[in-house]
Amino acid sequence: MNKMSDKKRYLITAALPYANGPLHIGHLAGAYLSADIFARHLRLLGKEVAFICGSDEHGAAITMRAKKEGTTPQAIIDTNHGIIKDSFEKLGVSFDIYDRTSSKLHHKTASDFFTTLHEKGAFEEETSEQYYDEENNQFLADRYIVGTCPKCDHEEAYGDQCENCGSTLSPLELKNPTSKLSGNTPILKTTKHWYLPLNKEEGWLKDWIVDGKGRSEAWKKNVLGQAKSWLDSGLQPRAITRDIDWGIPVPLEGAEGKVLYVWFDAPIGYISATKKWAEENNKNWEDYWKSDDSSLIHFLGKDNIVFHSIIFPSMLKLHGDYILPTNVPANEFMNLEGQKLSTSRNWAVWVHEYLEDLPNYQDELRHTIIKYMPETKDSEFTWASYKEVVDADLVGNFANFINRVVVLTNKYFDGKVPDFVANAQVKDSKGENSTAGAELKVLEVKLKTLSEYISTYNFRSAQQTLLEISTIGNQFLQTNEPWKVFKKDKEAVKPVMNIALQIISALSVVCRPFIPFASDKMRTLLNLKAIEDNGEWKDLLDILAEGKPIIENEHQIGKPIHLFKRIPEEVINSQIEKLKNNQPKTINYEPVKKAIDFEDFMKIDLRVGTIIEAVKVKKSKKLLELKVALGFEERTIVSGIAEFYKPEDIIGQQVVVVVNLAPKKLRGVMSQGMVLMAENEEGKLDFVHPSHDFGNGFIVK
Ligand code: 2FM
Ligand code: ZN
Repeated sequence: MNKMSDKKRYLITAALPYANGPLHIGHLAGAYLSADIFARHLRLLGKEVAFICGSDEHGAAITMRAKKEGTTPQAIIDTNHGIIKDSFEKLGVSFDIYDRTSSKLHHKTASDFFTTLHEKGAFEEETSEQYYDEENNQFLADRYIVGTCPKCDHEEAYGDQCENCGSTLSPLELKNPTSKLSGNTPILKTTKHWYLPLNKEEGWLKDWIVDGKGRSEAWKKNVLGQAKSWLDSGLQPRAITRDIDWGIPVPLEGAEGKVLYVWFDAPIGYISATKKWAEENNKNWEDYWKSDDSSLIHFLGKDNIVFHSIIFPSMLKLHGDYILPTNVPANEFMNLEGQKLSTSRNWAVWVHEYLEDLPNYQDELRHTIIKYMPETKDSEFTWASYKEVVDADLVGNFANFINRVVVLTNKYFDGKVPDFVANAQVKDSKGENSTAGAELKVLEVKLKTLSEYISTYNFRSAQQTLLEISTIGNQFLQTNEPWKVFKKDKEAVKPVMNIALQIISALSVVCRPFIPFASDKMRTLLNLKAIEDNGEWKDLLDILAEGKPIIENEHQIGKPIHLFKRIPEEVINSQIEKLKNNQPKTINYEPVKKAIDFEDFMKIDLRVGTIIEAVKVKKSKKLLELKVALGFEERTIVSGIAEFYKPEDIIGQQVVVVVNLAPKKLRGVMSQGMVLMAENEEGKLDFVHPSHDFGNGFIVK
């Protein structure tokens, strides 16, 4: 069962990212790059592919973000949908459609799906007690409740999940629950909801997941492990409606003010997006979702496994007509520079910022993330390793090989491909005697291995195999030494350069799922037809199977260009610096002084005044001599603000003055009071003043 199920048509989904913030590299590592490699590979094999994604725009994550930023959920999703979509496009993630769940079509599709299940009697209605915030008059969605995790005692666990130990929770399990809206302890209040009784689905889910009944592919260990552990602990009915005001209204009488749970509507988003794509491209969406010659594959991060392996399949099965996923290849998490990626702590490499800082380095990011893809366990991205792998793999190995071949072909044969002769003698990459034909076979085997790795979701091994092809190419040049042989035997160099050119032509196709921008450049460089992602890999294999060459004799290639450049040290230093600067600073606040009596405080006479003159005090960097109008009189006051304000800028500024401070001579000027200032941790001073224009001389207390 570890072979790819060979189908005519593939429906590939990548988890819909929440539109509550932009994308970071953890997202790319979790779902999107593996899905993109997989989809691109299948298109190159000539399969029909629908690669579906879009923004997940409902749920409490969005409303909470809006509240935090003092804006509306609509504004949040509009901004983030735009940023996310743009990041995917610029990074070459080749979705056939990037849709959004706020669309009308999706609302209708999800609503109809719910109605069908409801009419089939698939749901249970239940009135239960749920947490309610009395101050805000609303029921609290899981994410709006924090408390102590019953499993690990982490004090900031959410109502649905503890991010510390990864446990899935329900709000009632939390100790010391607190409303995130008001900070109060919520009360319990009754409300009616609709539940999906997953317990009734356990039987077939066990057969399907644990015993593999009806499945054509093996699932990854991490996915099976999680799914099994859910099944082992017994499935519970799951509420699929919520009492919040942002989402798809529950299409039932008596359900006013309630919406579908975001995890009920989001996966249906895959269906709505397919419908939209099909409409726009003259296809039939049902061929993809309801036909046995179609394979459905969900790419996702590990926190989404249960939804795609248990809950959504149950929904599809209960609805009827739909196929179930062939595979659910989930990745684990990627850490960054030794710490968990965190949106709230801004510990992340944001994709849109990366693309602004390094606009022509898309393949470099893709390559590094694939190299450290968390396929079986959590992994780590560091800027040092980014530089290391780009410099070694892409510059030192891949681009170097291509460059050598193009330079030598131009030098020895004016850029024309020398003839292929199957039985011409060459050395292989190890220095053993071989023939041109045999070396083409070696290439064919490697391409098949590479394909096999992608088909079985082993993307790191696939990338490794891709690099092995260029390593072999480099070694092949090394063992044949065309630069030495050419001087004495030009003919003997021809098959060597021919084979090297066959390898780089093949690479221009098979590197495409990993480094698509380099693939395009290589096609131009080799003066080969632009790739249309329509069976080109299959064509390669067909040609090689017949023992024929890929690039034709006499074909004219272009002049050398550098495909990749070493990453300058400054680039990674400035990225590391940026990451650190994004961190909230820890401030060492001054300790609070000893308490004083109110009478003591009232001894200080504070008044509003206006600065009417200001000049620098001679021979002092810090001091300004101010004249302050206090209504009842004018005073000269010396103030230590010369480093922060120019004298001319503060004329007319209202201030607060301590008017009964004993006069003191400062640098020869008698100061008759003190202007109040706020001072921050860097010693920067700023005036304290009434927020509106205020009369001079009045008391401050
Ligand atoms: O975890 C997430 O980011 C979710 N928005 C994924 C949703 S996947 C789906 F089913 F749509
Ligand atoms: Zn916990």
